[in-house]
Amino acid sequence: MSDQITVRRLAGALGAEISGIDLSAPLEEATIVALRAALNLHQVIFFRDQSLTPAQQLAFGRRFGPLNIHPYVSGMADHPEVMEIIKEPEDRLNFGGGWHSDMSFLETPSIGSILYAVETPAFGGDTLFASQAAAWDALSDGLKATLEGLKAVHSAGREYSATGPSAQKRASMQVAEAEGLAGEFTHPVVKVHPETGRKALYVNPAFTMRFEGWTRRESKPLLDWLFEHSRQEAFTCRFAWRDGSVAFWDNRQVWHYALNDYPGQRRHMRRVTVDQA
Ligand code: SIN
Repeated sequence: MSDQITVRRLAGALGAEISGIDLSAPLEEATIVALRAALNLHQVIFFRDQSLTPAQQLAFGRRFGPLNIHPYVSGMADHPEVMEIIKEPEDRLNFGGGWHSDMSFLETPSIGSILYAVETPAFGGDTLFASQAAAWDALSDGLKATLEGLKAVHSAGREYSATGPSAQKRASMQVAEAEGLAGEFTHPVVKVHPETGRKALYVNPAFTMRFEGWTRRESKPLLDWLFEHSRQEAFTCRFAWRDGSVAFWDNRQVWHYALNDYPGQRRHMRRVTVDQA
């Protein structure tokens, strides 16, 4: 018998809040199946009032696939798969402060990320999510036909270089420099979701460098247009964190953006990232 979960949709394009579940407990397989179905359908799912140790967050994440060890951000000493995302009151930059899809710069990108709020600011620090499936649906047939024939080159080199936005968070997070180390990997511009068959745009401003076979300069106008298109309000939802909140998003069809609007306050999150099995 699975837990009696309730799913409440939060916005038109994506997002649902799930209640009636304790993520720290060993969950029935039927519950995992129900959560996977909710994630596929709603693209990002949220939970409130959870209490997770790093080991419990790892155990929950592992029910969905192997967990990633980030190549450029150090994990916890005793749990390298758990990444601490901390912004101290004196930090100015925030990790994840730009639209992106986690780990699209890998040869085999992750399928999802599970973020747990340990300590949240009194105000601000929400995360925005944008459905790249809805962004795809809204394109004309002509542009869809063009994009279906394209692949794009992704790299962590810009984001995690010494002058890049993520590397500059070294004060609070152990971020290594990727410049010169990061490889380039090519993925289709249109991702077909392996479980639902739904199509989604799979390019993002942080990690997509150019179209395969095109120069950076040739790629820029179309990529910029797609980035603008894909973050339209109609495709988004916004999550206001509280201590103990959890978000689980599907990186194959969702972008996210951590807002940096809580100066002088501390925000402490822990993330595990689920790889393809
Ligand atoms: C991330 O990009 O994984 C961080 C998102 C957040 O802290 O809200």
